Parts: sequence; C-alpha cells; structure tokens
Amino acid sequence: MKAKRRKVNNSVESTIDVKAVPAGTNLKGKSKLQFQRFTRLNRVLHILMIVSFISLALTGMTLKFSYTGWAVVLSHLLGGFESAGYIHRFFAVVMVSVFITHLVDLTRLKKREYASWKKLILSKDSMLFNKKDLQDIIGTLKWFLGFGKRPQYGRWTYWEKFDYFAVFWGIFVIGSTGITLWFPVLLTNILPGWAINVATIIHSDEALLATGFIFTIHFFNTHLRPEKFPMDIVIFSGRVPLEEFKIDRPAEYKELVEKGELEKYLVEPYPAIVIRSIKVFGWIALSIGFSIVVWIIYAMIFAYR
Ligand code: HEM
Repeated sequence: MKAKRRKVNNSVESTIDVKAVPAGTNLKGKSKLQFQRFTRLNRVLHILMIVSFISLALTGMTLKFSYTGWAVVLSHLLGGFESAGYIHRFFAVVMVSVFITHLVDLTRLKKREYASWKKLILSKDSMLFNKKDLQDIIGTLKWFLGFGKRPQYGRWTYWEKFDYFAVFWGIFVIGSTGITLWFPVLLTNILPGWAINVATIIHSDEALLATGFIFTIHFFNTHLRPEKFPMDIVIFSGRVPLEEFKIDRPAEYKELVEKGELEKYLVEPYPAIVIRSIKVFGWIALSIGFSIVVWIIYAMIFAYR
C-alpha cells in the first residue's frame, strides 16, 4: 500500500512539554498524523527474523531438551525429532538470508547517502555507540531515581544499539557453529574431531543466551516498559503517531523540525483491520516467546540432564 504524505505546520511548538514526562507515562497518542520510522524492507526483514528465530528456538530446544514432556509433544507436532532437525536447517537458511539482505541494504545506504563506510559508521544516526549514548545512560539512571527529567532520546537509543549488536555478533557465533554441526564430515577434513563437540556446546549455550535475552530483556525494552505497554507495533506498521514520536524521540523530532524535514516523514495511519492483524501476530509472537522462556527455566531447574 502506498503511503500518502501529508503537509503539516512544522512548528517546534508542541502542546506537550517533552522535557517533563514522568517515568511511567504511556505515550500512546491519539494524533491522526504518523511519523514513518522504518522502511518496508526493515519491517519485512524483522518479521522474517521473528518467524525464523522463533522456529529455530522451538526446534532447537526440542532437540536440546528432548527428554522433557514438552519436547515429546512438540516433536510429534513437528513430525518427529529428525524432521525438527530439517525444519531447523530450513529456518537457519532464512535467518542467514535475512542477515545478508540487511548487509546488502547497508551497502546501498552507504552508496546513496554516505561517501564511505567510515562516514556511515561515524554519522550521527549510526548504530555505533557514541558520547550521547553515555550521557543518555547516565540521564536515564537519574530519571529512574527521580533526580532528573527523561533524557532527550534521538533516532536510536542505547538499548536499541545494544540489541542490534547482540544480533550482529550472535549470528556469527551461532551461524558458524551451526554450519559445523550441519556438515561435520566435511569440516573435520580441516578441523580436529573435538571441534564438533566444542561447536555443539557453543551453539547450544549461545542459543540459550540468545533466546533468554530476546524473550526477556528485548521484550521488556520494546513492549513492556511503561511508555509502550503492552506492545509497540512500530516495527510492523513502520509508523508512530506524531504526538508519541515528539515525546519518545524529542532530539530527533527537534532536529527534523529545525531542518524543515519533518514533513517528508509524515504518512497516513494504516486502516484498523491492518493494525488488528498486526496485533494478533504480535500477541502470538510474544506468547510463544514467553512460553519458551518458561520451558527453558523449567527444563534447567527441574529436568536438566
Ligand atoms: C542461523 C544459523 C543456524 C544453523 C546453521 C543451525 C544449525 C544447527 C544444526 C545443524 C543443529 C543440529 C541439529 C540436529 O542434530 O539435527 C542445531 C542444533 C541446535 N540449534 Fe541451531 N542453527 C542455527 C541457529 C540457531 C538458533 C538461532 C537457535 C536458537 C535460538 C538454535 C538452537 C539450537 C539448539 C538448542 C540446538 C540443539 C543443540 C544440542 O543438541 O544441544 N540454532 N543447529
């Protein structure tokens, strides 16, 4: 669906005092106009990442905790342990393809808007940590403790950058060990036999770390913090109500207004039926994620072998 762009008055004046938002304020706005935060490709890649990650976690944990009752039920649903392994390999290919597509997209962004990788990496909106992130971390702690106002967050917050890099290095660790498990005979032509055991331990433990992190800390940071509770659908819809954007990302809002560029990013909201479908998908993903965490905790505490 092609998003229609709307003209608005680019005034910095807002009915909301963005500097005085108390901790816990729900930012769900009622404004008609919305700010376009993510491109269509960003959103499609994130949806494919969710589907592949959940499928990998479900099939992987079925293999890892095969002695638990849940794994037996799941393996029946998946067509047996062997077929769980095949499904695992299929979604591994999907996840690695998502990652490669993102790298290609970054290359295109570099060509389009920055002359070199150095300029992209050191740009103000880069995902790399910078001085403002450190100031925001300190500011956030002060805000939580009641010693200051909510920091003026910009395009990317420090916790979003952390989550981004967690996926970046995680893919290398889990992908390289996963390929070793996939082609053990081929790889033992160059690696010693014990490397397969080491790869199994690293793959398995990194899987636990990634699953535990995504389904608790990432879920909390994105959906469960008071400003966004119970769910932030921006990664699916790509757009945020303008009022919510002003409060949530005041530094980015102010900069766009000052440069006179805000208008470029204003779009019509999606129809209610699209939002409802997005929420159904979101609730399913959140419920499966939380259930996997409960399963892991149960398996580790009560059934670990
Ligand atoms: C992205 C690239 C990945 C590749 C190439 C890959 C490949 C594999 C392969 C070949 C196996 C052995 C399956 C079998 O024995 O039939 C395996 C096991 C497993 N994978 Fe993956 N995988 C990947 C990602 C993931 C992810 C993202 C997770 C979790 C979130 C995960 C969790 C697991 C677990 C828990 C096991 C069982 C390990 C054990 O037996 O202790 N994998 N993986």
